[in-house]
Amino acid sequence: MNTHKGRLTRDGIRIHEDSDFAGMHKAGALAARILDEIADHVFVGQTTGAIDKMIEDKVNEAGAKSATIGYKGYRHASCISVNHVVCHGIPGDKLLKDGDILNVDVTVIVDGWFGDTSRMYVAGKLSRKAERLIEITHESLMKGIEAVKPGNTFGDIGHAIQSYVEAHRMSVVRDFCGHGLGRVFHAPPNVLHYGRPGTGPALEEGMFFTIEPMVNLGRPETKVLADDWTAVTRDKSLSAQFEHSIGVTGTGAEIFTLSPAGRFHPTWTA
Ligand code: MF3
Ligand code: CO
Ligand code: CO
Repeated sequence: MNTHKGRLTRDGIRIHEDSDFAGMHKAGALAARILDEIADHVFVGQTTGAIDKMIEDKVNEAGAKSATIGYKGYRHASCISVNHVVCHGIPGDKLLKDGDILNVDVTVIVDGWFGDTSRMYVAGKLSRKAERLIEITHESLMKGIEAVKPGNTFGDIGHAIQSYVEAHRMSVVRDFCGHGLGRVFHAPPNVLHYGRPGTGPALEEGMFFTIEPMVNLGRPETKVLADDWTAVTRDKSLSAQFEHSIGVTGTGAEIFTLSPAGRFHPTWTA
């Protein structure tokens, strides 16, 4: 039982009420269902713009709102980041080629609550090295989530992700992070995907935030292209990302954006 509800911590992190979990669950489930439903529409020759249009239609059909359309001038219902694009790829009319890997990131608003999730897809045949990158990135997110429980700190989450990724000779992007969310899209804290154990704010029941590690096969440095959105790896190496929205419970984490169809990972065919 959470006895300190509806307050902000001294780091400005909102402690939500027990009943708020249901709102996040509903928003997260819609975002995850939409990502399930586009899986069959990722193929060689498809455009990222067509995938985005499908996402926008699904958000509208559900009577929800896209959090990204109109956000800081962004005009799309998703970000679609192909190959060496790290995040914030803008959907467009470029055709997907055989072996392309892509992250699709969707944020919806349902009854005022934000559900934010992303996962990886492949067009055509998944190469061995891309499969390994996707595998490690997904597992790093799950290691981060395993570190979520009251008493641990945000640094424990970052450390769990970073140590796992680097043990596999890949790198964690430093230039983008996860974020608090709830009735707002981006709130404190910055959820870093690297760090030292025991550092940073303590995790408390009722905190809602995303964990969304970006992992590169090469070096961690990124740059933003002239469109002011698209972030790419400086060394052009492949990059992958997975994102869940979660809430801290009395004993661990509730994942709001679990895949209803069990298709969170591109090689899961369930
Ligand atoms: N969904 C992204 C995140 O994980 C934010 C995208 S903002 C946009 O925080 F404007 F680029 F869509
Ligand atoms: Co996010
Ligand atoms: Co997102």
